[in-house]
Amino acid sequence: MSSLESLEDKVLSILLGSAGSYVSGAEIASILGVSRMAVSKAVNNLKKKGHVIKSHPRLGYCYVDIDDLLYLEEYLRDLPTRLRYRVVYFEEATSTQDIARSLADTGVNEGTVVLAEKQSCGRGRMGREWISPPGGLWFTVVLKPPIPPPKITLLSLLSGCAVALGIMDITNLNPHLKWPNDVLLNEKKVAGILVEANIETDLIRYAFIGIGVNVNNEIPREIANIATSINQLLGHKVSRVALMRAILKRLDELYSKLIYGYSDHIIKVWKSLSSTLGKRIIVYLSEKEKIKGQALDINKDGSLIVKTSENKILKIYYGDIIHLRHKA
Ligand code: BTN
Repeated sequence: MSSLESLEDKVLSILLGSAGSYVSGAEIASILGVSRMAVSKAVNNLKKKGHVIKSHPRLGYCYVDIDDLLYLEEYLRDLPTRLRYRVVYFEEATSTQDIARSLADTGVNEGTVVLAEKQSCGRGRMGREWISPPGGLWFTVVLKPPIPPPKITLLSLLSGCAVALGIMDITNLNPHLKWPNDVLLNEKKVAGILVEANIETDLIRYAFIGIGVNVNNEIPREIANIATSINQLLGHKVSRVALMRAILKRLDELYSKLIYGYSDHIIKVWKSLSSTLGKRIIVYLSEKEKIKGQALDINKDGSLIVKTSENKILKIYYGDIIHLRHKA
C-alpha cells in the first residue's frame, strides 16, 4: 500500500480483500492507524461514490461485490439523486434505444433506465453497429430536458463526463474523453454514447441517452486494436451495480447543472477530461466529407473549435474525429 493512497483507497482495498464478509471498523482502524470515525467517514464517501457496502453495528462493513443487474433498481434507492431512476430490465434486447423510444411513445417518466444484458442490434453513432455481448453495461436513460434543442450537444458532452467520472469513482483508472463523448482508457475506447431525441419544433419531448460500457465483457478480436474493457485493464471483474450507481449519480449531478443553467460547469469538467484539445485531428462529417486540422477549444455551446490546415476557424457540431499521433 503506498503512502500516497488516500484513506478511502486504503479502506477500499481492505474491504475488497474480504468482499462478501464483514470486517470490523476497529480492525480497519487498527490496520491503518486511524480512528474508527475516520474509517466510518471513508466508508460513507465510498458509498456516495457508488460502492455497495453494508454496515452492521456489531460486525462492521461488508463490500457487496454484486454484478447482478436484475435487482439494480433496489440498489439505486439510496442514491441521493434528483432524478428518480426506474429500471426496465431485459435479458436480451434488440437495442435499448428502440425500447426506450417505444416506451416514450406511450408516455414514460423521466429517469427511466432501459437496460439489457445483451443487445442483438446495438447501434452506435454515425449509423455504426455496437457490439453488445454479456458482461457489459448497455442501457438508455430517458430524460425530458427543458432546454432548447441546440443545447442537446451539451447533454451529449455531459453524458461522456458522467461515464468517465463514474469509472474514476469506483476504480483507479484514469479515463479521458474524445470529442464529443467517446470515453478512452489508454487511447482505446471503453465506452460510447449515443444521444437521440424526439424533437417537436423548439421543444425536446424526450432525449434518449444510450450508454455502452465495456466492463467485464470480451472484446471481439476485430476491434481489439481500438477498444478495451475495464476488466482487461484492471485484470479483474468489477461490480456492474457499483459502476451503474456511480455513473447514474454523476449523470444526475451534471444534468442538474444543465437544466439550472450552469453550462459553463459542464464545459469545465469536459475540458478537464479531454484528450482531444490541442491534438491534430481529422473530423469525419460524413463518409465522404472530412476536415483536417487542430482541435483548439470547446465552445460554450459544446461545439468543437477547429483550426483547419488552411487556417480557417470552424465550429463543429457533429461528426466523428480521429486523433493524429504526429503533426500533419
Ligand atoms: C458510439 O460510440 O458509437 C455510441 C455507442 C452507444 C451504445 C449504446 S449501448 C446502449 C444503447 N443502445 C444502443 O443500441 N446503443 C446504445
